[in-house]
Amino acid sequence: MKPVDLSPVLAVENLSVSFRTEEGRRHVVDGVSLSIRSGEAVAIVGESGSGKSVTLLAAMGVLPPTAMIKADAITLNGEDIVGATDARLATLRGTEISMVFQNPMASLNPTMRIGEQVSETVAVHDSNASQEALTALAG
Ligand SMILES: Nc1ncnc2c1ncn2[C@@H]1O[C@H](COP(=O)(O)OP(=O)(O)OP(=O)(O)O)[C@@H](O)[C@H]1O
Ligand SMILES: [Mg+2]
Repeated sequence: MKPVDLSPVLAVENLSVSFRTEEGRRHVVDGVSLSIRSGEAVAIVGESGSGKSVTLLAAMGVLPPTAMIKADAITLNGEDIVGATDARLATLRGTEISMVFQNPMASLNPTMRIGEQVSETVAVHDSNASQEALTALAG
């Protein structure tokens, strides 16, 4: 039997995010922790403005420079990405982690099948991806 991998793919420990604004510092995420294992689908539920998107934008490393991020750890496949360089994060995005941004009509093309759009991302970020693998992804 195949061993089950219980180590998290993405783990966020005690994440806090605040923004520098004209009215002063705005705290929008306070002490969030989550852990996602391979094969798991995790939904974050909360009222509008409660910080769901900001939490994941922090994990992707794509918040604007006005954001201050504090976390005990954010790990992707065991690699701590809190102090990762922009170059490292750019490599990880699209290969190890990616995001369909809110408002899918703006971030996805409704005239293309989802599989084609996913395989396009892989083709751009993984020059080793075989044509066979890309075609299989595109469905
Ligand atoms: N760049 C920013 N500068 C200042 N405040 C911001 C910035 N981005 C987000 N916020 C604020 O952070 C809070 C959390 O926003 P976020 O977008 O994470 O909410 P959400 O839970 O995803 O809401 P929704 O369900 O509407 O998508 C909101 O009050 C928002 O106005
Ligand atoms: Mg949101």
